[in-house]
Amino acid sequence: AVEASELNEDHSTHHDVNKEYADLNWDELGFGPIPIDYMYVMKCTKDEKYFSQGTLTRFGNIDMNPSSGILNYGQGLFEGLKANRTEDGRILLFRPEQNARRLQMGAERMCMPSPTIEQFIHALKQIVNANKSWVPPPGKGSLYIRPLLMGSGPVLGAMPAAEYTFLIFASPVGIYHKGTLNLIVEEKFYRAFPGGTGGIKTAANYATVFKPVTEAKAKGFSDVLFLDVTTRKNIEEASTSNIFILKKNVISTPAITGTILPGITRKSIIEIARVLDYQVKERDIPAEELFDAEEVFCTGTAMVVNPVSSITYMGKRIEYKTGVNTVAQNLRTMLTGIQTGQIEDKMGWTVEI
Ligand code: COI
Repeated sequence: AVEASELNEDHSTHHDVNKEYADLNWDELGFGPIPIDYMYVMKCTKDEKYFSQGTLTRFGNIDMNPSSGILNYGQGLFEGLKANRTEDGRILLFRPEQNARRLQMGAERMCMPSPTIEQFIHALKQIVNANKSWVPPPGKGSLYIRPLLMGSGPVLGAMPAAEYTFLIFASPVGIYHKGTLNLIVEEKFYRAFPGGTGGIKTAANYATVFKPVTEAKAKGFSDVLFLDVTTRKNIEEASTSNIFILKKNVISTPAITGTILPGITRKSIIEIARVLDYQVKERDIPAEELFDAEEVFCTGTAMVVNPVSSITYMGKRIEYKTGVNTVAQNLRTMLTGIQTGQIEDKMGWTVEI
């Protein structure tokens, strides 16, 4: 593998990767793409079936055949995870093997080869090490890492591509959504259907919700809450996050049935809540239950745990408790504490770079 320091010597005009921090206003991080120093690229042909050796290259535009599978037929997946800097200067990844496994499941559904768990984690370590100075100072945010897996080989007929590219880039990020969420239950558009791809992280799941989300935002909401398409009665998830409700001391979240994205934050929140002695149920949740829930919150890698202050359903606006002494806040504190090394990681979730 190419060492970041070797690569850097060829680009003396670029900033020094050995500097502790890149030149950025760390107090004003939002969630937008900030160009970093290096990206990681690994390729595989269909005949090879397995990825072999990847490399770090300068972050920048990539060559793409206009007939590539990803550009024409959307044969692609993405992942998202964060690297956090601890107070004592270590850098931690959070449950990266979970992202590796989810990518493998998605790749199987999309007829793509995928990196092994070891290759995936090795690549993550390389890209974080090469871009260390872009990992925000403790308390200022995270380095959001975006692995992509895509059909990069040319096709014309609708079929799997003959070559695949696994690429990882990253960007320093702060808060995804400022403030609490005001959701509206989406009653016209549906995100997923049984047998479809709602349960994997394919790019199209995101592009196809832009329209309902844009419409909801124009009406002053932060996001939509999708219903299942079969009964049109049960809640599934928001556009980029999973949903939880709290009612009579029981935390519930829709069960993973193939139409809901199996969030790693979702899974971690369930496990943390159980350790904290909350009762947690993964089940069907009729939207009717939104009327008497006490708390509602959304979870996601980008979003972390975001309280929902209101949901509008069937023309009625329902309000929920947010802020101090809420279950959502307790769970968030515990999760971010583990992710940033402030709370001892008894779960064995963090991986030091
Ligand atoms: C994440 O939370 O990592 C996601 O994948 C959502 C993304 C659209 C920002």
